[in-house]
Amino acid sequence: MGKSVSGFSKFSKSKKIDWIVEHYFAANEQVKSVIKKYWNSDDKLQQLHDEFIENTITNYYLPLGIAPNFLINDKIYAIPMAIEESSVVAAASKAAKFWYDRGGFKAEVISTTKIGQVHFMYHGDVDKLNSFFLKVKKKLFEDTKAITKNMILRGGGILDIVLKDKRQELDNYFQLHATFETLDAMGANFINSCLEQFAKTFTEEAKKYDDFSAEEKDIQIVMSILSNYVPDCLVRAEVSCNVEDLNENDALSGEEFARKFIQAVEIAKVEPYRAVTHNKGIMNGIDSVVLATGNDFRAVEAGVHAYASRHGRYSSLTDASLENGVFKFWLEIPLALGTVGGLTRLHPMVKIALELLKHPTAKDLMQIIAVAGLAQNFAALRSLITTGIQQGHMKMHLMNILNQFNANAAEKETLINHFKSNAVTHNAVIEALENLRQ
Ligand code: MEV
Repeated sequence: MGKSVSGFSKFSKSKKIDWIVEHYFAANEQVKSVIKKYWNSDDKLQQLHDEFIENTITNYYLPLGIAPNFLINDKIYAIPMAIEESSVVAAASKAAKFWYDRGGFKAEVISTTKIGQVHFMYHGDVDKLNSFFLKVKKKLFEDTKAITKNMILRGGGILDIVLKDKRQELDNYFQLHATFETLDAMGANFINSCLEQFAKTFTEEAKKYDDFSAEEKDIQIVMSILSNYVPDCLVRAEVSCNVEDLNENDALSGEEFARKFIQAVEIAKVEPYRAVTHNKGIMNGIDSVVLATGNDFRAVEAGVHAYASRHGRYSSLTDASLENGVFKFWLEIPLALGTVGGLTRLHPMVKIALELLKHPTAKDLMQIIAVAGLAQNFAALRSLITTGIQQGHMKMHLMNILNQFNANAAEKETLINHFKSNAVTHNAVIEALENLRQ
């Protein structure tokens, strides 16, 4: 059994490290030295990172890579991607270049509505609750004015609030279901603040509502929280070209490529085991840009996968067609993103990522990120239906294996050359390294 601790959050950073190292590690000084190696030498920058969360002991690096040559709605982007998986950035860059030569990506934002709910229990007459809601609705808007003022000035705010009877799903369960337009902000704080005010106003007003009995006056709020399911905050990304233009080599005609590609998508549409992996590849592209731009990838993940199940079975997020000699491949996903507020104003690398993307609005960023997801899926399917995924993946993974065995610069150069014409496997790399070292 491990050791529990009280007051850990009040320990200084050094004391926190001393405590965990003492209780969880054998090689104390070595572990401490690694933890501290990841501290930034700029104290102010380190303090900024320390204060993003609680109980920070050090930083956790992810590489930030760039996938250039993304032509999106006739503008060229170099897309920043924060991700640890070898081959994702290379695959994105390859897909970007492929479509750059074929007219680029088209993207459009379909809708931008976000959702939040006050979940509550009510024991009583539903008609009375409906009348009460209609009477109090205006006050729900009024009482949030201090929160919504600036957002309204910019053209956003609360769009609507409706009362939902959910008793078919759970006894006595009702909701205030509210919709929001949060413009360039992801809007989590804005939405949650509005919802908490709705809950307050709603319960206070209920107590004063003469038509309610004592029991009806006692509305019990369970919770007030935004939803990360945003099926009305949708973006679409698409590529298309004449089918002959898909042909890259003589081994596979454009027509054959399109046919196999569409079959791969159809499989992901009907087979959940495949759909999850198919969509995981899409999320390689999406999460890495979401992360690089300081957005909440857990929110995006949760919402996107819920959307993939919206017809009752988990299915592909992308679709493809071949009609009248034109190959089309597209993606439609919900994305709630922000380009102002939150980390975007604080994290120096996020600021750089956003500047690299030409200071996008939230709508621009939705389009860029959807394109990154589509490109990633294109690259994955293209490999899967032709060479197989391992060829490209292991080429990129080669460096990880070489690093694992502390290959020096000369060894790396020799072996990278060697594996240009030989299949990369873990054992083959070890063997080649051993031969070289003998
Ligand atoms: C690996 O991270 C992602 C893939 O498995 C996606 C796919 O299979 O489509 C290559």
